[in-house]
Amino acid sequence: MKIDEKYYRTIWPNITADLHKNDAILSVEIIDQTMLPHRFEVKAINSLQGMVAAIKTMQVRGAPLIGAAAAYGMALAVHENASDIHIEKSAKALLQSRPTAVNLAWAVKRMQQHLKALPQEARCNAAWQEAALICEEDVQMNHAIGQHGLSLIQTALTKNGKNTVNILTHCNAGWLATVDWGTALAPIYAAHDAGMNIHVWVDETRPRNQGASLTAWELGKHGIPHTVISDNAGGHLMQHDQVDMVIVGADRVTSKGDVCNKIGTYLKALAAFDNKVPFYAAVPSPTIDWTIQDGLSDIEIEMRDADEVSYMIGLASDGSIQSVRVTPEHTHALNPAFDVTPARLVSGIITERGITTPSALKQLFK
Ligand code: MRU
Repeated sequence: MKIDEKYYRTIWPNITADLHKNDAILSVEIIDQTMLPHRFEVKAINSLQGMVAAIKTMQVRGAPLIGAAAAYGMALAVHENASDIHIEKSAKALLQSRPTAVNLAWAVKRMQQHLKALPQEARCNAAWQEAALICEEDVQMNHAIGQHGLSLIQTALTKNGKNTVNILTHCNAGWLATVDWGTALAPIYAAHDAGMNIHVWVDETRPRNQGASLTAWELGKHGIPHTVISDNAGGHLMQHDQVDMVIVGADRVTSKGDVCNKIGTYLKALAAFDNKVPFYAAVPSPTIDWTIQDGLSDIEIEMRDADEVSYMIGLASDGSIQSVRVTPEHTHALNPAFDVTPARLVSGIITERGITTPSALKQLFK
């Protein structure tokens, strides 16, 4: 997507010499999302450890982007040392960086399988190529999700007889959370680009404020009308016919269509169900974990540092980015980062292959 007329993806390799030569200068460039919306900063990652840290601290975040970052993490690792032992060790370090989004494990496994089948001297080039391929595929899948989701928005527009479709989204599932296009926001970009009038209700998404900071930023850059609301406002807006549909992304979807996504998604699904507002999850296939059925028992929910709840980060009047405490000094806080929305609350899953009910998800990928 474009930022101030320049085209960006969220991650790209910076290879300045022949990979076979030892003096090749290599890095992977990322947009540091912890600085947005206040500063747009590109950061160079030069090592596996650097990539693990970027994933842990959420400089890169969002399930598909975490997968892409992990793939490039493997490429950086293999560039250092292409032995079987080093590949195993590096995969383990990446797998431990964040547990919930299955895209990370999917990408690491794909890289491991691909590399281990090759002789050691061929692994370095192959690793960069495979990571780039994972990124390309992500872009294609998200583009297709956008085109499929567009039909839902078109239907809502003709059905409600209004001039504008109001869509509520939670967290950031836009292009910043993927390599490009986004998942939940891909249909919104497609509809806007097709000339439809869209307005997006953006959940602020405490504690890390991905909605207020990131979704609002990227929608604004693309010229899409939007309004940030507190996390608790969605139900009220639905009761007053202000929401035509909810579209969220996902970090892991089970084979029966349970949707694990950013904490607070479940409450939005409950409110949508009670108010007969359609609730969709936009899901590229690497986000589907076919090995599990039940989201509540089978998905590890990441518990993050309680300080993310106790403190808020924002722009101070002197232009510096500061962290301020919002709870009493000795009050404990708990920070589960994701929750599971049971399939029965999900109206549809938008994938690169089309839109399906949760119960028909398997058939779509047979
Ligand atoms: O903790 P985060 O910011 O990585 O969580 C991201 C989300 O929960 C997104 O909604 C999800 O990854 C969908 S991605 C397009």
